[in-house]
Amino acid sequence: MSDYLLADSSLSPGVIYRLLSGSICPRPIAWVSTQDTHGNTNLAPFSFFNVASVNPPVLAFSPLLNGSGERKDTVRNLKDVAECVVHVGSEELIEALNTTSASLPPGEDEFALAGLEKASMPGVSVPRIANAPVAFGCTLYDVIQFGDQPLAGTLVLAQVVSIHINDALWDGRHVDMDLLKPVGRLAGSDYIRISDRFAIERPD
Ligand SMILES: Cc1cc2nc3c(=O)[nH]c(=O)nc-3n(C[C@H](O)[C@H](O)[C@H](O)COP(=O)(O)O)c2cc1C
Repeated sequence: MSDYLLADSSLSPGVIYRLLSGSICPRPIAWVSTQDTHGNTNLAPFSFFNVASVNPPVLAFSPLLNGSGERKDTVRNLKDVAECVVHVGSEELIEALNTTSASLPPGEDEFALAGLEKASMPGVSVPRIANAPVAFGCTLYDVIQFGDQPLAGTLVLAQVVSIHINDALWDGRHVDMDLLKPVGRLAGSDYIRISDRFAIERPD
């Protein structure tokens, strides 16, 4: 057994990253498109992701500063154009999703790199991935920056202003998980499918 008081310990940010990302899992994956002022689009996955509010609907995801303390293109773009489209990482597009996690120079388009078509998204100027079954068009609600050191998070709160959903997977009430096939991220290169589900009734 080990206990660490972080203020007194010498755990490096890299070690803390692996402890957090190896323990807090599986994590859903936000696959986020953004755009700069010149109309260049960007696409990147973020597994530090969840629902923050339903009414109003707000999503939360957190790009970290990189190892040199620099912002990722997603955050840079959000400062330019305060809109994004959040897709849900799923099995069918997982190879393309992984491709879009490459660090390209700013202005280079991960849609093209991953061979993905764009489609317009109501309410925002940023395009969605044409064949993604679910997409949330968002405007920027708030950003919380946790300092400027390497691996500091930038918590992005994005208010949902439009929803695209394939009718095959939504009956107006429930999303069909077997068709959506969302994947969860574990640690490192590991992912998990939803094929081993179980249900527990909630207490009254
Ligand atoms: C499945 C997956 C999840 C990821 N989650 C995060 C995350 O939550 N935060 C983060 O900073 N980087 C995350 N990354 C790495 C970013 O996707 C990567 O740094 C990407 O190049 C950032 O793109 P951008 O510079 O175009 O914004 C993840 C990568 C993968 C493959």
